Amino acid sequence: MSERLFIFDTTLRDGEQVPGCQLNTIEKIEVARALELLGVDIIEAGFPVSSPGDFEAVQEICKTVKDLTVCGLTRAVDKDIEVAAEALKLAKNARIHTGIGTSPYHIKLKLKSNEDEIIERAIRAVKLARNLVPEVEFYAEDAGRTDNIYLARVVEAVIAAGARIINIPDTTGYCLPEEYGAKIKYLMENVKNIDQAILSTHCHNDLGMATANSLAGIAYGARQVEVTINGIGERAGNTALEEVVMAIKTRKDLPFETRIQSQRIVSTSRLVSSLMNMPVQANKAIVGRNAFAHSSGIHQDGVLKNRENYEIIDPSSVGVDESALVLTARSGRAALKHHLNRLGNYPDDKQLVKIYESFLLIADKKKQINDEDLLALIGNGVAKDQPVRLNLLQVVAGKSTIPMATVHLFVHGEEKMATAEGNGPIDACVNAVKKIIPNKFVLDEFLIQAITRGSNDIGKVHVKLYADNRMINGFGADVDIITASVKALVDAVSKMLIK
Ligand code: KIV
Ligand code: ZN
Repeated sequence: MSERLFIFDTTLRDGEQVPGCQLNTIEKIEVARALELLGVDIIEAGFPVSSPGDFEAVQEICKTVKDLTVCGLTRAVDKDIEVAAEALKLAKNARIHTGIGTSPYHIKLKLKSNEDEIIERAIRAVKLARNLVPEVEFYAEDAGRTDNIYLARVVEAVIAAGARIINIPDTTGYCLPEEYGAKIKYLMENVKNIDQAILSTHCHNDLGMATANSLAGIAYGARQVEVTINGIGERAGNTALEEVVMAIKTRKDLPFETRIQSQRIVSTSRLVSSLMNMPVQANKAIVGRNAFAHSSGIHQDGVLKNRENYEIIDPSSVGVDESALVLTARSGRAALKHHLNRLGNYPDDKQLVKIYESFLLIADKKKQINDEDLLALIGNGVAKDQPVRLNLLQVVAGKSTIPMATVHLFVHGEEKMATAEGNGPIDACVNAVKKIIPNKFVLDEFLIQAITRGSNDIGKVHVKLYADNRMINGFGADVDIITASVKALVDAVSKMLIK
Protein backbone atom coordinates (compact mmCIF):
# COMPACT_ATOMS: atom_id res chain seq x y z
CA MET A 1 0.00 0.00 0.00
CA SER A 2 1.27 3.45 -0.94
CA GLU A 3 1.77 6.08 1.74
CA ARG A 4 0.75 9.69 1.19
CA LEU A 5 3.58 12.15 0.62
CA PHE A 6 2.82 15.86 1.04
CA ILE A 7 4.26 18.24 -1.52
CA PHE A 8 5.24 21.64 -0.08
CA ASP A 9 6.12 24.05 -2.87
CA THR A 10 8.39 26.97 -2.06
CA THR A 11 8.81 28.36 -5.60
CA LEU A 12 7.27 31.64 -4.44
CA ARG A 13 9.56 31.95 -1.41
CA ASP A 14 12.88 30.07 -1.68
CA GLY A 15 12.60 30.04 -5.49
CA GLU A 16 11.86 33.72 -5.64
CA GLN A 17 15.03 34.48 -3.67
CA VAL A 18 17.02 33.94 -6.90
CA PRO A 19 18.50 37.25 -8.06
CA GLY A 20 16.56 38.64 -11.01
CA CYS A 21 13.59 36.27 -10.54
CA GLN A 22 11.35 38.52 -8.50
CA LEU A 23 7.69 38.48 -9.44
CA ASN A 24 5.01 41.08 -8.93
CA THR A 25 1.79 40.21 -7.11
CA ILE A 26 -0.17 39.42 -10.28
CA GLU A 27 2.54 37.07 -11.50
CA LYS A 28 2.71 35.38 -8.08
CA ILE A 29 -1.04 34.81 -8.17
CA GLU A 30 -0.67 33.24 -11.62
CA VAL A 31 2.00 30.87 -10.31
CA ALA A 32 -0.07 30.09 -7.20
CA ARG A 33 -3.08 29.20 -9.37
CA ALA A 34 -0.90 26.95 -11.52
CA LEU A 35 0.47 25.24 -8.39
CA GLU A 36 -3.06 24.69 -7.12
CA LEU A 37 -4.04 23.06 -10.41
CA LEU A 38 -0.84 21.03 -10.34
CA GLY A 39 -2.01 19.61 -7.02
CA VAL A 40 0.60 20.73 -4.49
CA ASP A 41 -0.56 20.41 -0.88
CA ILE A 42 1.10 23.52 0.56
CA ILE A 43 2.31 26.73 -1.07
CA GLU A 44 4.91 28.76 0.74
CA ALA A 45 3.64 32.07 -0.61
CA GLY A 46 6.31 34.38 0.78
CA PHE A 47 8.03 35.94 3.77
CA PRO A 48 5.43 38.54 4.76
CA VAL A 49 7.56 40.67 7.08
CA SER A 50 10.31 41.05 4.47
CA SER A 51 8.51 43.69 2.38
CA PRO A 52 5.07 45.24 1.82
CA GLY A 53 5.08 43.53 -1.61
CA ASP A 54 5.56 40.10 -0.06
CA PHE A 55 2.87 40.81 2.53
CA GLU A 56 0.40 41.85 -0.18
CA ALA A 57 1.25 38.85 -2.36
CA VAL A 58 0.64 36.40 0.51
CA GLN A 59 -2.68 38.12 1.28
CA GLU A 60 -3.81 38.01 -2.36
CA ILE A 61 -2.78 34.37 -2.77
CA CYS A 62 -4.83 33.49 0.32
CA LYS A 63 -7.87 35.06 -1.35
CA THR A 64 -7.26 33.23 -4.61
CA VAL A 65 -6.38 29.62 -3.83
CA LYS A 66 -8.63 27.37 -1.82
CA ASP A 67 -7.72 23.77 -2.38
CA LEU A 68 -4.46 23.83 -0.41
CA THR A 69 -2.65 25.28 2.59
CA VAL A 70 -0.98 28.69 2.29
CA CYS A 71 2.14 29.10 4.34
CA GLY A 72 4.16 32.19 5.32
CA LEU A 73 7.80 32.12 6.40
CA THR A 74 9.08 33.82 9.53
CA ARG A 75 12.18 33.96 11.66
CA ALA A 76 11.77 33.07 15.35
CA VAL A 77 10.92 36.71 15.94
CA ASP A 78 7.60 37.91 17.41
CA LYS A 79 7.08 40.69 14.84
CA ASP A 80 7.66 38.29 11.90
CA ILE A 81 5.12 35.84 13.31
CA GLU A 82 2.47 38.50 14.00
CA VAL A 83 2.86 40.00 10.52
CA ALA A 84 2.69 36.55 8.89
CA ALA A 85 -0.49 35.70 10.82
CA GLU A 86 -2.05 38.96 9.62
CA ALA A 87 -1.09 38.24 5.99
CA LEU A 88 -2.54 34.72 6.26
CA LYS A 89 -5.83 35.84 7.84
CA LEU A 90 -7.94 35.09 4.76
CA ALA A 91 -6.42 31.71 4.01
CA LYS A 92 -8.78 28.74 4.07
CA ASN A 93 -5.92 26.73 5.56
CA ALA A 94 -3.07 28.77 7.01
CA ARG A 95 0.33 27.66 8.22
CA ILE A 96 3.22 29.61 9.74
CA HIS A 97 6.69 28.28 8.99
CA THR A 98 8.95 29.56 11.73
CA GLY A 99 12.41 28.52 12.79
CA ILE A 100 15.96 29.27 13.79
CA GLY A 101 19.49 28.12 13.00
CA THR A 102 20.64 25.06 14.94
CA SER A 103 24.10 24.27 13.57
CA PRO A 104 27.23 25.41 15.44
CA TYR A 105 27.83 27.88 12.62
CA HIS A 106 24.45 29.49 13.01
CA ILE A 107 24.34 29.37 16.81
CA LYS A 108 27.79 30.80 17.39
CA LEU A 109 28.69 32.81 14.30
CA LYS A 110 25.31 34.08 13.12
CA LEU A 111 23.11 34.26 16.20
CA LYS A 112 25.94 34.67 18.80
CA SER A 113 23.96 32.46 21.15
CA ASN A 114 24.12 29.03 22.77
CA GLU A 115 22.24 25.75 22.39
CA ASP A 116 19.87 26.19 25.35
CA GLU A 117 18.93 29.74 24.39
CA ILE A 118 18.19 28.62 20.82
CA ILE A 119 15.77 25.98 22.15
CA GLU A 120 14.03 28.61 24.30
CA ARG A 121 13.66 30.97 21.35
CA ALA A 122 12.34 28.13 19.16
CA ILE A 123 9.72 27.17 21.79
CA ARG A 124 8.60 30.77 22.21
CA ALA A 125 8.21 31.24 18.43
CA VAL A 126 6.21 28.05 18.00
CA LYS A 127 3.89 28.87 20.92
CA LEU A 128 3.22 32.38 19.61
CA ALA A 129 2.55 31.11 16.09
CA ARG A 130 0.33 28.34 17.42
CA ASN A 131 -1.82 30.97 19.16
CA LEU A 132 -2.33 32.82 15.87
CA VAL A 133 -2.82 30.13 13.21
CA PRO A 134 -4.07 26.55 13.28
CA GLU A 135 -0.91 24.93 11.91
CA VAL A 136 2.77 25.55 12.67
CA GLU A 137 5.79 24.16 10.89
CA PHE A 138 9.22 24.58 12.48
CA TYR A 139 12.52 24.65 10.57
CA ALA A 140 15.88 23.93 12.16
CA GLU A 141 17.99 25.99 9.78
CA ASP A 142 21.22 24.27 8.70
CA ALA A 143 19.99 20.99 10.20
CA GLY A 144 22.23 19.31 7.62
CA ARG A 145 25.26 20.43 9.62
CA THR A 146 23.62 20.11 13.04
CA ASP A 147 24.67 17.37 15.44
CA ASN A 148 21.90 14.76 15.52
CA ILE A 149 21.72 14.54 19.34
CA TYR A 150 21.18 18.30 19.69
CA LEU A 151 18.81 18.32 16.69
CA ALA A 152 16.67 15.67 18.39
CA ARG A 153 16.45 17.88 21.51
CA VAL A 154 15.28 20.83 19.42
CA VAL A 155 12.74 18.76 17.52
CA GLU A 156 11.28 17.23 20.69
CA ALA A 157 10.96 20.67 22.29
CA VAL A 158 9.17 22.30 19.35
CA ILE A 159 6.77 19.37 18.96
CA ALA A 160 5.94 19.71 22.64
CA ALA A 161 5.35 23.44 22.01
CA GLY A 162 2.82 22.69 19.27
CA ALA A 163 4.66 22.37 15.93
CA ARG A 164 3.13 19.63 13.82
CA ILE A 165 5.49 19.66 10.87
CA ILE A 166 9.24 19.67 11.45
CA ASN A 167 11.44 20.77 8.59
CA ILE A 168 15.00 19.44 8.52
CA PRO A 169 16.70 21.72 5.98
CA ASP A 170 20.02 20.89 4.44
CA THR A 171 20.40 24.64 4.05
CA THR A 172 23.86 24.57 2.50
CA GLY A 173 23.39 21.43 0.38
CA TYR A 174 26.24 19.74 2.29
CA CYS A 175 24.78 16.32 3.09
CA LEU A 176 25.25 13.07 1.22
CA PRO A 177 22.16 10.93 0.73
CA GLU A 178 23.09 8.25 3.33
CA GLU A 179 23.92 10.97 5.83
CA TYR A 180 20.68 12.86 5.30
CA GLY A 181 18.65 9.64 5.37
CA ALA A 182 20.43 8.62 8.60
CA LYS A 183 19.55 12.00 10.14
CA ILE A 184 15.86 11.48 9.46
CA LYS A 185 16.11 7.90 10.74
CA TYR A 186 17.82 9.11 13.92
CA LEU A 187 15.05 11.62 14.57
CA MET A 188 12.34 9.05 13.86
CA GLU A 189 13.95 6.68 16.37
CA ASN A 190 15.08 9.09 19.08
CA VAL A 191 12.49 11.87 19.37
CA LYS A 192 9.96 10.62 21.92
CA ASN A 193 6.96 12.62 20.64
CA ILE A 194 7.76 12.17 16.91
CA ASP A 195 4.38 10.43 16.41
CA GLN A 196 2.70 13.83 16.93
CA ALA A 197 4.43 15.44 13.92
CA ILE A 198 5.65 14.74 10.44
CA LEU A 199 9.18 15.35 9.28
CA SER A 200 9.81 17.39 6.17
CA THR A 201 12.81 17.41 3.83
CA HIS A 202 14.15 20.71 2.48
CA CYS A 203 17.31 20.10 0.48
CA HIS A 204 19.52 22.45 -1.46
CA ASN A 205 21.45 21.42 -4.51
CA ASP A 206 24.96 22.78 -3.92
CA LEU A 207 26.50 19.35 -4.54
CA GLY A 208 23.79 18.21 -6.95
CA MET A 209 22.28 15.96 -4.24
CA ALA A 210 19.00 17.72 -3.51
CA THR A 211 16.72 15.14 -5.09
CA ALA A 212 18.77 12.17 -3.88
CA ASN A 213 18.80 13.60 -0.34
CA SER A 214 15.06 14.23 -0.39
CA LEU A 215 14.38 10.66 -1.54
CA ALA A 216 16.70 9.34 1.18
CA GLY A 217 14.77 11.42 3.73
CA ILE A 218 11.47 10.00 2.50
CA ALA A 219 12.86 6.47 2.61
CA TYR A 220 13.66 6.91 6.32
CA GLY A 221 10.39 8.44 7.43
CA ALA A 222 9.89 12.02 6.19
CA ARG A 223 6.39 12.48 4.79
CA GLN A 224 6.57 16.02 3.48
CA VAL A 225 9.02 17.14 0.82
CA GLU A 226 9.84 20.80 0.13
CA VAL A 227 10.47 21.57 -3.51
CA THR A 228 10.42 24.23 -6.19
CA ILE A 229 9.43 24.11 -9.84
CA ASN A 230 12.49 23.59 -12.05
CA GLY A 231 14.56 23.29 -8.84
CA ILE A 232 15.03 27.04 -8.68
CA GLY A 233 16.20 28.58 -5.43
CA GLU A 234 19.13 30.05 -3.54
CA ARG A 235 22.54 29.40 -5.17
CA ALA A 236 22.33 26.00 -6.93
CA GLY A 237 18.64 25.76 -6.10
CA ASN A 238 16.25 23.50 -4.21
CA THR A 239 14.94 20.01 -4.82
CA ALA A 240 12.97 20.03 -8.07
CA LEU A 241 9.29 19.11 -7.67
CA GLU A 242 9.21 17.36 -11.02
CA GLU A 243 12.15 15.11 -10.14
CA VAL A 244 10.75 13.86 -6.83
CA VAL A 245 7.24 13.41 -8.17
CA MET A 246 8.35 11.55 -11.29
CA ALA A 247 10.84 9.41 -9.37
CA ILE A 248 8.00 8.23 -7.17
CA LYS A 249 5.67 7.72 -10.11
CA THR A 250 8.25 5.93 -12.24
CA ARG A 251 9.83 3.71 -9.61
CA LYS A 252 7.10 1.37 -8.50
CA ASP A 253 9.38 0.21 -5.67
CA LEU A 254 8.95 3.62 -3.98
CA PRO A 255 5.66 3.08 -2.14
CA PHE A 256 4.38 6.67 -2.07
CA GLU A 257 1.67 8.70 -3.70
CA THR A 258 1.13 12.42 -4.17
CA ARG A 259 -1.79 14.55 -5.37
CA ILE A 260 0.27 15.95 -8.23
CA GLN A 261 -1.41 16.01 -11.65
CA SER A 262 1.80 15.10 -13.42
CA GLN A 263 0.51 15.99 -16.90
CA ARG A 264 0.63 19.62 -15.75
CA ILE A 265 4.32 19.49 -14.87
CA VAL A 266 5.78 20.78 -18.11
CA SER A 267 3.27 23.62 -18.57
CA THR A 268 3.87 24.75 -14.97
CA SER A 269 7.61 24.56 -15.56
CA ARG A 270 7.30 26.75 -18.69
CA LEU A 271 5.12 29.26 -16.86
CA VAL A 272 7.59 29.64 -13.99
CA SER A 273 10.54 29.79 -16.35
CA SER A 274 9.02 32.53 -18.48
CA LEU A 275 7.60 34.63 -15.63
CA MET A 276 10.87 34.45 -13.72
CA ASN A 277 13.01 34.94 -16.79
CA MET A 278 14.92 31.85 -15.82
CA PRO A 279 15.61 29.47 -18.74
CA VAL A 280 15.54 25.76 -18.00
CA GLN A 281 18.74 24.00 -19.00
CA ALA A 282 18.16 21.80 -22.06
CA ASN A 283 19.20 18.58 -20.30
CA LYS A 284 17.24 19.27 -17.09
CA ALA A 285 15.52 16.07 -15.92
CA ILE A 286 11.81 15.86 -16.83
CA VAL A 287 11.31 19.46 -18.02
CA GLY A 288 14.41 20.22 -20.10
CA ARG A 289 13.98 20.69 -23.85
CA ASN A 290 16.00 17.51 -24.44
CA ALA A 291 14.41 15.39 -21.70
CA PHE A 292 12.47 13.41 -24.30
CA ALA A 293 14.63 14.09 -27.35
CA HIS A 294 16.66 11.37 -29.03
CA SER A 295 19.48 12.29 -31.31
CA SER A 296 21.70 9.34 -32.17
CA GLY A 297 20.65 6.96 -34.93
CA ILE A 298 20.83 3.91 -32.66
CA HIS A 299 18.59 5.48 -30.03
CA GLN A 300 16.14 6.82 -32.61
CA ASP A 301 15.82 3.43 -34.24
CA GLY A 302 15.29 1.87 -30.80
CA VAL A 303 12.61 4.40 -29.83
CA LEU A 304 10.79 3.91 -33.12
CA LYS A 305 10.68 0.15 -32.48
CA ASN A 306 9.50 0.63 -28.91
CA ARG A 307 9.58 3.87 -26.90
CA GLU A 308 10.54 1.98 -23.75
CA ASN A 309 13.84 0.92 -25.27
CA TYR A 310 15.23 4.32 -24.35
CA GLU A 311 12.55 6.06 -22.26
CA ILE A 312 11.54 5.36 -18.66
CA ILE A 313 8.84 8.04 -18.59
CA ASP A 314 5.96 8.37 -21.01
CA PRO A 315 6.29 12.00 -22.17
CA SER A 316 2.51 12.43 -22.15
CA SER A 317 2.50 11.74 -18.40
CA VAL A 318 4.22 15.11 -17.86
CA GLY A 319 2.38 16.94 -20.60
CA VAL A 320 4.77 16.50 -23.53
CA ASP A 321 2.96 15.45 -26.73
CA GLU A 322 5.50 12.92 -27.88
CA SER A 323 9.18 12.03 -27.77
CA ALA A 324 11.23 14.12 -30.13
CA LEU A 325 13.48 12.42 -32.60
CA VAL A 326 15.86 15.27 -33.23
CA LEU A 327 17.36 15.22 -36.69
CA THR A 328 21.09 15.84 -36.59
CA ALA A 329 24.10 14.57 -38.52
CA ARG A 330 24.03 11.54 -36.21
CA SER A 331 20.48 10.55 -37.14
CA GLY A 332 19.78 7.50 -39.22
CA ARG A 333 17.42 6.79 -42.09
CA ALA A 334 14.74 5.42 -39.71
CA ALA A 335 14.31 8.79 -38.01
CA LEU A 336 14.42 10.67 -41.31
CA LYS A 337 11.73 8.40 -42.74
CA HIS A 338 9.63 8.82 -39.59
CA HIS A 339 9.70 12.60 -39.95
CA LEU A 340 9.07 12.55 -43.69
CA ASN A 341 6.04 10.30 -43.09
CA ARG A 342 4.85 12.60 -40.34
CA LEU A 343 4.98 15.45 -42.85
CA GLY A 344 2.95 13.46 -45.35
CA ASN A 345 5.84 12.30 -47.58
CA TYR A 346 6.33 8.61 -48.26
CA PRO A 347 9.54 8.11 -50.27
CA ASP A 348 10.35 4.57 -51.42
CA ASP A 349 13.63 3.03 -50.27
CA LYS A 350 15.58 4.30 -53.30
CA GLN A 351 14.29 7.83 -52.89
CA LEU A 352 14.99 7.71 -49.19
CA VAL A 353 18.63 6.86 -49.83
CA LYS A 354 18.94 9.95 -52.05
CA ILE A 355 17.14 12.23 -49.62
CA TYR A 356 19.29 10.89 -46.81
CA GLU A 357 22.44 11.85 -48.75
CA SER A 358 21.21 15.45 -49.16
CA PHE A 359 20.06 15.44 -45.56
CA LEU A 360 23.56 14.55 -44.33
CA LEU A 361 25.09 17.33 -46.39
CA ILE A 362 22.87 19.90 -44.72
CA ALA A 363 23.05 18.26 -41.30
CA ASP A 364 26.83 18.57 -41.40
CA LYS A 365 26.47 22.33 -41.73
CA LYS A 366 23.54 22.84 -39.42
CA LYS A 367 23.15 21.66 -35.82
CA GLN A 368 19.54 20.55 -36.06
CA ILE A 369 17.19 19.95 -38.97
CA ASN A 370 13.62 21.12 -38.46
CA ASP A 371 10.40 20.48 -40.37
CA GLU A 372 10.85 23.45 -42.66
CA ASP A 373 14.36 22.28 -43.50
CA LEU A 374 12.98 18.85 -44.37
CA LEU A 375 10.31 20.27 -46.61
CA ALA A 376 12.97 22.35 -48.29
CA LEU A 377 15.10 19.26 -48.67
CA ILE A 378 12.35 17.32 -50.41
CA GLY A 379 11.85 20.21 -52.78
CA ASN A 380 15.56 20.22 -53.46
CA GLY A 381 15.59 16.49 -54.17
CA VAL A 382 14.08 17.11 -57.61
CA ALA A 383 17.21 18.99 -58.65
CA LYS A 384 19.24 15.84 -59.34
CA ASP A 385 17.41 15.04 -62.61
CA GLN A 386 17.21 18.59 -63.89
CA PRO A 387 18.62 19.55 -67.34
CA VAL A 388 20.37 22.49 -65.68
CA ARG A 389 22.30 21.98 -62.47
CA LEU A 390 24.40 24.34 -60.40
CA ASN A 391 28.01 23.21 -60.20
CA LEU A 392 29.90 26.13 -58.72
CA LEU A 393 29.16 29.62 -57.52
CA GLN A 394 31.45 32.41 -56.51
CA VAL A 395 30.19 35.79 -55.40
CA VAL A 396 31.94 39.00 -54.49
CA ALA A 397 29.84 41.48 -52.56
CA GLY A 398 30.08 43.94 -49.73
CA LYS A 399 30.28 47.65 -48.97
CA SER A 400 32.15 49.71 -51.58
CA THR A 401 32.41 46.69 -53.91
CA ILE A 402 30.69 46.14 -57.24
CA PRO A 403 28.75 42.91 -56.75
CA MET A 404 29.97 40.25 -59.12
CA ALA A 405 29.04 36.58 -59.59
CA THR A 406 30.67 33.70 -61.42
CA VAL A 407 28.28 30.83 -62.05
CA HIS A 408 29.16 27.36 -63.37
CA LEU A 409 26.19 25.35 -64.60
CA PHE A 410 25.80 21.94 -66.16
CA VAL A 411 23.40 22.39 -69.07
CA HIS A 412 22.36 19.01 -70.44
CA GLY A 413 25.59 17.62 -68.97
CA GLU A 414 27.89 20.25 -70.49
CA GLU A 415 29.64 22.66 -68.12
CA LYS A 416 29.12 26.34 -68.90
CA MET A 417 30.35 29.37 -67.05
CA ALA A 418 29.61 33.12 -66.98
CA THR A 419 30.54 36.15 -64.90
CA ALA A 420 28.30 39.17 -64.46
CA GLU A 421 27.84 42.27 -62.34
CA GLY A 422 24.60 43.34 -60.71
CA ASN A 423 22.93 45.73 -58.26
CA GLY A 424 23.52 43.21 -55.55
CA PRO A 425 24.95 39.67 -55.27
CA ILE A 426 21.68 37.97 -56.25
CA ASP A 427 21.15 40.30 -59.20
CA ALA A 428 24.70 39.50 -60.31
CA CYS A 429 23.93 35.77 -60.14
CA VAL A 430 20.72 36.20 -62.14
CA ASN A 431 22.61 38.15 -64.80
CA ALA A 432 25.28 35.42 -65.00
CA VAL A 433 22.63 32.69 -65.37
CA LYS A 434 20.93 34.76 -68.09
CA LYS A 435 24.25 34.86 -69.98
CA ILE A 436 24.47 31.04 -69.89
CA ILE A 437 20.85 30.26 -70.73
CA PRO A 438 20.05 31.82 -74.05
CA ASN A 439 16.25 31.44 -73.83
CA LYS A 440 14.44 34.61 -72.85
CA PHE A 441 12.65 34.65 -69.51
CA VAL A 442 11.24 37.36 -67.27
CA LEU A 443 11.59 37.12 -63.55
CA ASP A 444 8.30 37.95 -61.92
CA GLU A 445 8.83 37.08 -58.25
CA PHE A 446 11.79 36.36 -56.04
CA LEU A 447 10.77 35.42 -52.51
CA ILE A 448 13.57 34.91 -50.01
CA GLN A 449 12.81 33.50 -46.59
CA ALA A 450 15.34 32.94 -43.86
CA ILE A 451 13.45 30.29 -42.01
CA THR A 452 12.92 30.32 -38.24
CA ARG A 453 15.43 30.81 -35.43
CA GLY A 454 19.21 30.94 -35.77
CA SER A 455 21.68 32.53 -38.13
CA ASN A 456 22.79 29.02 -39.18
CA ASP A 457 19.30 28.16 -40.41
CA ILE A 458 18.34 27.22 -43.95
CA GLY A 459 17.17 29.90 -46.36
CA LYS A 460 14.32 29.09 -48.74
CA VAL A 461 13.81 30.86 -52.05
CA HIS A 462 10.81 30.76 -54.39
CA VAL A 463 11.17 32.10 -57.90
CA LYS A 464 8.42 32.79 -60.40
CA LEU A 465 9.33 33.48 -64.03
CA TYR A 466 7.56 33.79 -67.34
CA ALA A 467 8.84 32.28 -70.57
CA ASP A 468 6.86 31.74 -73.77
CA ASN A 469 3.70 32.78 -71.92
CA ARG A 470 4.30 30.05 -69.39
CA MET A 471 4.47 30.71 -65.66
CA ILE A 472 7.16 28.60 -64.05
CA ASN A 473 7.97 28.21 -60.35
CA GLY A 474 11.37 27.33 -58.99
CA PHE A 475 12.45 26.44 -55.51
CA GLY A 476 15.81 26.30 -53.76
CA ALA A 477 17.09 25.89 -50.23
CA ASP A 478 20.48 26.14 -48.69
CA VAL A 479 22.24 27.39 -45.56
CA ASP A 480 23.65 30.08 -47.88
CA ILE A 481 20.85 32.35 -49.07
CA ILE A 482 22.64 33.32 -52.33
CA THR A 483 23.20 29.67 -53.23
CA ALA A 484 19.53 29.03 -52.40
CA SER A 485 18.57 31.85 -54.77
CA VAL A 486 20.62 30.45 -57.65
CA LYS A 487 19.27 26.95 -56.98
CA ALA A 488 15.73 28.33 -57.19
CA LEU A 489 16.46 30.11 -60.44
CA VAL A 490 18.18 27.03 -61.88
CA ASP A 491 15.17 24.92 -60.88
CA ALA A 492 12.81 27.26 -62.72
CA VAL A 493 15.10 27.54 -65.74
CA SER A 494 15.34 23.74 -65.93
CA LYS A 495 11.57 23.44 -65.99
CA MET A 496 11.54 26.08 -68.71
CA LEU A 497 13.89 23.94 -70.84
CA ILE A 498 11.70 20.85 -70.44
CA LYS A 499 9.03 21.96 -72.88
O1 KIV B 1 17.19 26.44 3.34
C1 KIV B 1 16.64 26.76 4.41
O2 KIV B 1 17.12 26.47 5.49
C2 KIV B 1 15.41 27.52 4.32
C3 KIV B 1 14.66 27.73 5.58
C4 KIV B 1 14.32 29.17 5.76
C5 KIV B 1 13.47 26.85 5.61
O3 KIV B 1 15.01 27.90 3.24
ZN1 ZN C 1 15.97 26.81 1.62
